[in-house]
Amino acid sequence: MKHSRKRISGTLPGDASRLSLTKEVIVSTNESALQEELRRLREESALLEEIKRLRQENERLKAEQGSIAGSGPRNLVPKELSEEERLQREGFADEVPVPGRHAPTFNIVNDLLSIGAVPWGDPLTPAYLLDKHYRIVDWNTAFGLAFDHSMDGRRGLSVLEWVYLLDNFEESLSQSAKDFADPNNLPRIHVEPIIYTSPNYGKIVAKKRAYQVPDDAGQLLGWLVTLAPKFPDAATSLRYKRDLFANLKREMVWSEYAMSYDSVLLSSRVYPELLNHMIGEAVPAGGNGKLNPIGRGARILDVGAGTGNIARLLAHFKRGHVIFAIENNAGMLDLLNSKCAPHLRFDDNGPGILAIKQDASMLFGLPEASFDFAILNNVAYALADPVACFRQVRAALMPKGEIRVSGPQKSTDLEKLFSRIAEDLEVAGRTAELKDDFDRVREINQKALNSILYRWNVDEMSNLLKSAGFSQITYSTDTAYAGQAMIVAARK
Ligand SMILES: C[S@@+](CC[C@H](N)C(=O)[O-])C[C@H]1O[C@@H](n2cnc3c(N)ncnc32)[C@H](O)[C@@H]1O
Repeated sequence: MKHSRKRISGTLPGDASRLSLTKEVIVSTNESALQEELRRLREESALLEEIKRLRQENERLKAEQGSIAGSGPRNLVPKELSEEERLQREGFADEVPVPGRHAPTFNIVNDLLSIGAVPWGDPLTPAYLLDKHYRIVDWNTAFGLAFDHSMDGRRGLSVLEWVYLLDNFEESLSQSAKDFADPNNLPRIHVEPIIYTSPNYGKIVAKKRAYQVPDDAGQLLGWLVTLAPKFPDAATSLRYKRDLFANLKREMVWSEYAMSYDSVLLSSRVYPELLNHMIGEAVPAGGNGKLNPIGRGARILDVGAGTGNIARLLAHFKRGHVIFAIENNAGMLDLLNSKCAPHLRFDDNGPGILAIKQDASMLFGLPEASFDFAILNNVAYALADPVACFRQVRAALMPKGEIRVSGPQKSTDLEKLFSRIAEDLEVAGRTAELKDDFDRVREINQKALNSILYRWNVDEMSNLLKSAGFSQITYSTDTAYAGQAMIVAARK
C-alpha cells in the first residue's frame, strides 16, 4: 500500500531573522500598517506551527512504517447510535416500510452455513469473468494457478475453449445446453461440478457457480464464475495454498513496484541507457560490441513489458514496429496502457502496441513464427521456469529471430547500482522529490526480490537459451546497467 506523505519545508517560529525583521517593521511604519503586519505574522506563525506539527507526524509515521503495530487502523471507536437516534431511525424505517426491518434473528451456525459460497471478491477463491456472449474476459491469480494458466491466450474466446479442457466436458456441455437453452429465461445462478486434471496438482474436482452480473441498468452484463476446488489430498491442497500465497505476495510486490518504478528509473540516466542498449540504439559503456538496431517494420515481443518503457520507446521512433507487450501485473499494465495510449491497437493489422495481460510462462495463443525480436528486459529472474518461457518465445520467433535477455547476475552489486541511480537523480536535481520512491524501489530490490536476483551468470544464461533450442549466442555482456547487469542475445 502506498503511504502518502506531505513534504513540507519552511522556517520554524523563533527564527532569528524573522524577529529582527519584526523590530524593523515596528519602528518604521504607522499603526495600521503595523497591525496589518502583526496579523500577517500571526498567520504565518500559525502556518509554521502547522508545518511543525505535520513534520512531527511525518517523523512518527516514518518511525512506525514496517512495524505491525503501526499498520492497522488507528483510533477505532465502536460506531453506535444513541437510544434516541435509534428510535428515530427505526420509526422512519417502519413508515417507509423497507424490507429487512423485521428480519428474523440470524443463527450464526445454521444460517451462516446454509449461505455457503457467495460471489466474494476473495483473492483465495478461484474466479473468472465472462461477458454475456460467454467469452472469456478475465480471471484472478487463484484461478490461473489452480488451472495452470489455461485461460491465458484464450481471452476473448468462447468459454467453450476452456470447457473442452475439462475431464467431464461432455457432461458440462450437455447440462449447459439444457440450462441455458432459453435466452429469455437464463438461470440467475448456474451450479455444476467440474473435473480437471492439472499436470501440477493432479485431479481437481470443483463446484462451479456462475452468477449473473447485471450492468448499471440491470441488463445482463456477463457472468462471474467462482470455483470451490478440492485437490486430490491434503498435502496437495496445502501445496496449492502455499503456492497461492507466494503468487499473491509477488503480485503485490509488482503492484507496489509499479507505483515508484517510472518516477525513479526514468529520472535516472542509467536505465534509459539500458533500454537503448537493449534495442541496439546505444553503444554500451563496456560490453562486447553493440546489439544490432531493430530494423524498420520489425515485429517485437516485449515479454514482462512492465510499465511499457521498451514498447513506448520503440513506438516513438515511428519505424512501423508492431509490438506485442505481454504483462501479467494489473498495476504495471494500467501504467503501460495509459503511457502507450497513443500507440495502442487492438488487432494485428499494422504498427503499434498490443497490450496483452498474460503470464509469460504461458504464451499460448501468440502467433507462431511471427516475431523478429523478443525482449525480456529485467524479467527472466522473476520467472519460475525461464527455459519453458524461452521455448515458447522461440516458437513465436521467425526463423533467425533473436531473443534478448537482460537482468541481474550472480555478481550484481545492488548497492553500486543504486548509488549510480542516486547520483543520476542528484544530477537531475530530483533527489529530495523522489526520496520516498527511491527508498521504495531500493527496498523492494533489497528485500522482496533479493532471493531471486542472483540466479545466473552470462555462461549459465547462454546455456539456458541453448537448452531452450536457440542455435547461437549472438551477443553477450556482463557490464550493462552501470556494470551490474548482463545481456545475452541468441538466434533461433
Ligand atoms: C523489473 S520489471 C521490468 C519491466 C520492463 N521489462 C522494463 O524494461 O522496465 C519486471 C516485470 O516482469 C513482470 N513479470 C514478472 N513475472 C511475470 C510473469 N510470469 N508473466 C508476465 N509478466 C511478469 C512484472 O510484473 C514486471 O512488470
